[in-house]
Amino acid sequence: MSEENKLEKIVSLCKRRGFIFPGSEIYGGIGGFYDFGPLGAELKFNIKQAWWDAVVKSRDDVVGLSAAIIMNPKVWEASGHVSGFSDPLAECRKCRKRFRADEIETQKCPECGGELASARNFNLMFKTFVGPVEGTAEVAYLRPETAAGIFMNFKNVVDTMRVKMPFGIAQIGRAFRNEINPKDYVFRTREFEQMELEYFVKPGDDEQIFKEWVENRIAWYEKLGLKNIRKQEQTPEERAHYSKGTIDIEYEFPFGWKEIEGIANRGDFDLKSHSVHSGQDLSYTDKETGEKYLPFVIEPSAGVDRIALAFLCDAYTEEDKRVVLKLHPRIAPYKAAVFPLVANKPELVDKARQVFKELKMTGLNISWDDRGNIGKRYYSQDEIGTPYCITVDYQTLDDGTVTIRDRDTTKQERMSEKEIFTHLMRVLHPIDF
Ligand code: GAP
Repeated sequence: MSEENKLEKIVSLCKRRGFIFPGSEIYGGIGGFYDFGPLGAELKFNIKQAWWDAVVKSRDDVVGLSAAIIMNPKVWEASGHVSGFSDPLAECRKCRKRFRADEIETQKCPECGGELASARNFNLMFKTFVGPVEGTAEVAYLRPETAAGIFMNFKNVVDTMRVKMPFGIAQIGRAFRNEINPKDYVFRTREFEQMELEYFVKPGDDEQIFKEWVENRIAWYEKLGLKNIRKQEQTPEERAHYSKGTIDIEYEFPFGWKEIEGIANRGDFDLKSHSVHSGQDLSYTDKETGEKYLPFVIEPSAGVDRIALAFLCDAYTEEDKRVVLKLHPRIAPYKAAVFPLVANKPELVDKARQVFKELKMTGLNISWDDRGNIGKRYYSQDEIGTPYCITVDYQTLDDGTVTIRDRDTTKQERMSEKEIFTHLMRVLHPIDF
């Protein structure tokens, strides 16, 4: 299977099985926007939950936040986004198509061969108006990253949460970028979700803590079974102007090695700039030593949609006669599927329904299937990554045991209903983040 072919197959599977749909499809779609269907929504939810568990809930030095998407536009002046968050845009004089000038090699239009006008900077922030008047004073922006909401609340969190340095504030939420050239499926879109942590440290402790976060984040991917990842240090030319060091975590997609997360040492750029622009003192005072300083910040910043695509690419496997998504059980949309051996024996269907309901009541996402034959149901669940299939058969009616089939090995075991639950919990829960 060629890599190009692999991506096509994944796109088709995602559409066919309810993971990802093109946005506003019945109106011909809209470039750079996708909708995550029922299974894609579960996949993304599981990724976000695994991140929140690791970055917030399992620690006592990180708190969560959910800030507004639209902020005072002065935020984006202070952050440098109004003046500098742009990509070079080149427009074809003939067909009027627009391209990112840094992504094309010639001066000719890649679509029609026409001449390209010289590149100009194009700001990637989406503009909107707040209130009923559409004047310049009412312009606001959809946030292009979630981080700014965290800096806006640095003082609020310090004042209310008894946090002590070093500590972090984490946030998951939507971000919007009017990308000139959205591409590679959900890799680069105009609306996406970010999972960002701003970890505040005392200046001088930053380099060591930066290294620790890089290792911590790599370990998170590895624990969730993602292979084909590597660290890449950004060169001084590649890094943002405020960054003292940035390491990207890259995944080898069918279209090449690409960033899924960046970990940056942002120094005190953000708090300093927001202090100056707002006139508010955003420094931190150590209650024990009385020392006052502007903290430095280490920022692991990851994109949920890109990570979802990386997991899908990594998990996609073709074997003999089946397609299997070998997703880690923690992030698989369904944890198990329950079937009656046949659909026309009411006693089997009733018993299977009972097993299904009991498992669902544990809070696990469980699928029900009584269509076609068992073999077809197995293949159907393999294709969406369901780790276990549980079948209620005639023996269940006698001794209460069911069969449980493992997605990856296709091996079946008999277990009591009680053992099934313990087995699922063992596989699903104890990830030591
Ligand atoms: N606050 C820092 C920041 O936003 P970034 O490297 O621009 O850094 C962080 O973005 C992550 O957000 C990326 O590693 C990527 O996973 C995701 N991301 C950025 N732009 C994206 C886009 N257009 N489509 C999908 N994900 C995107």
